[in-house]
Amino acid sequence: MTLPFPRIDGEMWAGECKVADLVAEFGSPLYVYDARVIEAAYRRMEVAFAGVDLLLAYSVKANSNLEILKRLVALGAGADIVSRGELHRCLTAGFSPEDMVFAGVGKTEAEMEAALAAGILAFNVESAEELELLSQVAERVGKPAPVALRVNPDIVADTPHEYTRTGGGATKFGIPVDRVMDLYRWAADRPTLEIRGIDVHIGSQILEAEPYERALDHVLGLAAQIRAEGIDLDFVDLGGGYGVSYDGGDGMSVEDLADIVVPRVAEAGLRLILEPGRFIVGEAGILVTKVLYVKHSGAKTFVVMDGGMTELIRPSHYQGFHRIEPVISREEATHEVVDVVGPICETGDFLARDRMLQMPASGDLLAVHTTGAYGFVMASNYNSRPKPAEVVVDGAEVTLARRRESLDDLLRGELG
Ligand code: LLP
Repeated sequence: MTLPFPRIDGEMWAGECKVADLVAEFGSPLYVYDARVIEAAYRRMEVAFAGVDLLLAYSVKANSNLEILKRLVALGAGADIVSRGELHRCLTAGFSPEDMVFAGVGKTEAEMEAALAAGILAFNVESAEELELLSQVAERVGKPAPVALRVNPDIVADTPHEYTRTGGGATKFGIPVDRVMDLYRWAADRPTLEIRGIDVHIGSQILEAEPYERALDHVLGLAAQIRAEGIDLDFVDLGGGYGVSYDGGDGMSVEDLADIVVPRVAEAGLRLILEPGRFIVGEAGILVTKVLYVKHSGAKTFVVMDGGMTELIRPSHYQGFHRIEPVISREEATHEVVDVVGPICETGDFLARDRMLQMPASGDLLAVHTTGAYGFVMASNYNSRPKPAEVVVDGAEVTLARRRESLDDLLRGELG
């Protein structure tokens, strides 16, 4: 696969634009997304799973910028949402509510009411307690709530960090298998609830098809039992988690996954929902940041950037590895092992540790790859730092998708 953000004569491009020109116009640090890379990932999944009735419910938490959401609407995507805020964004972006599923272990009554009123496809319910509250809310609103139960299959998938494994029995997610049948029966008896499907999500940044195979067999087995009791199901939702390339190697083969999933789901006569987030937007984004200083301290060399954990928390929070490259190569430069760090007052504020890098100089730009997912959305204002701008490039067309925050933005909402 050709990597996005190619290099021509030592200089990095986004679509038909030079990355350095984008920074000259919009400042640093800057998130840059290539819309064509997003579209290619979306189409790749669509093609791979063409043999089933498919809803690609983009997992909005990965990157919820309105410009990106609107482009996904145009591609025909549905949405996987986890909050009232995401519901609001998706309605604003133009997603059809009937293509939205609502996940999360801690849905509030207000969130249930809003999603019910909007007419979403299904609540992916994570506990008996939530199911009961949803039934009460539906009664009050006077409209049955569409539901799927999220099963915890007790499958621990291999992901790069324990925080992104969700299918194990010891996590807070999903309903334990031994409770699932009873809860379907309970729901089937309630006119306030309308059973739509069954759901599972085992984790994030998974590269192998095998854990999905186990999870799917598990939920299809349950689906057969549920239907044998005369309870109708429309869909199976296999969640998200399809891994991308962080090191320049291959991400998940969704084609291999489809070879396993498509025949089984087609045979079961169910509609398939997938909730990819990172797979759609991850490789389509870079975070560009400027070198402030190259500092030698003891045995170490620190490349101090104008962006750090406030712009991208993944290295610090999950020990996540992101490729880092100069935006413009200095062919004459030596390579050295350095720590790439941000300006924030925390030792944990780094983008890379002990990384071999072409030695940059103050003022150079570095691009941090594979930051289209869980990048900007996890950014914070810690140290009172305004959040960076986001731009979307589509060939030669550049759209400022979010302006850089101002100092006034930092004080908004404060009453002192
Ligand atoms: N569906 C459910 C129910 C989820 O909980 C998630 C992610 C997804 C779908 C989408 O997963 P994806 O396809 O994007 O892997 N901040 C972490 C990732 C957290 C994922 C949370 N749930 C990171 O930066 O690695």
